[in-house]
Amino acid sequence: MAHGPVLSRLSALELDRAAALHAESFAPLGERAWTRQDVAELLASPGVAGLLLQVDGCDVGFALCRVAADEAELLTIAVRPEARRRGLGRQLLAAVTDRVRAAGARVLFLEVAVDNSAAQSLYASQGFCVVGTRLAYYRRTNLPPADAAIMRLVLE
Ligand SMILES: CC(C)(COP(=O)(O)OP(=O)(O)OC[C@H]1O[C@@H](n2cnc3c(N)ncnc32)[C@H](O)[C@@H]1OP(=O)(O)O)[C@@H](O)C(=O)NCCC(=O)NCCS
Repeated sequence: MAHGPVLSRLSALELDRAAALHAESFAPLGERAWTRQDVAELLASPGVAGLLLQVDGCDVGFALCRVAADEAELLTIAVRPEARRRGLGRQLLAAVTDRVRAAGARVLFLEVAVDNSAAQSLYASQGFCVVGTRLAYYRRTNLPPADAAIMRLVLE
């Protein structure tokens, strides 16, 4: 029987699965894939939480966010390529927004490569606005570095 998307908190038992989702999602963009250790260290950092999204028992996406006082940051968000354009990224982002708001954040920041039109469209559709730029922020394999747009969502 088919099941709808299921969101759960990313646990320390799911580090390899999160790293696999990251690699699958970011390697095509030329960005370094996070290792299990990268995910473990982030998840163990103060204020950091992760969400795992599954469909029919299979991992399809994940996100990590950090809350510090009344500010939050989206550290990463990814949906595996074959599951895209079905609203799952939007669902993950909405869950992150709900979570950080409930934790006391009043603004949510993120960085996105200026040539990542898919992610920028997702963020813009959810009300994020560009508030700055970080030059040469993303180091890429066999490609020149890319600038990042800093985007912000004010949480009601
Ligand atoms: C960005 C990402 C998470 C979006 O996931 P998704 O599940 O495909 O997103 P959704 O289906 O929820 O799309 C929501 C909206 O985002 C925008 N969008 C998503 N993919 C898009 C694309 N390829 N082109 C243009 N707009 C796009 C659209 O506005 C879309 O709404 P619509 O389908 O009603 O038009 C996914 O493409 C991904 O994992 N990319 C690689 C990793 C990445 O770039 N992460 C963000 C780093 S800052």
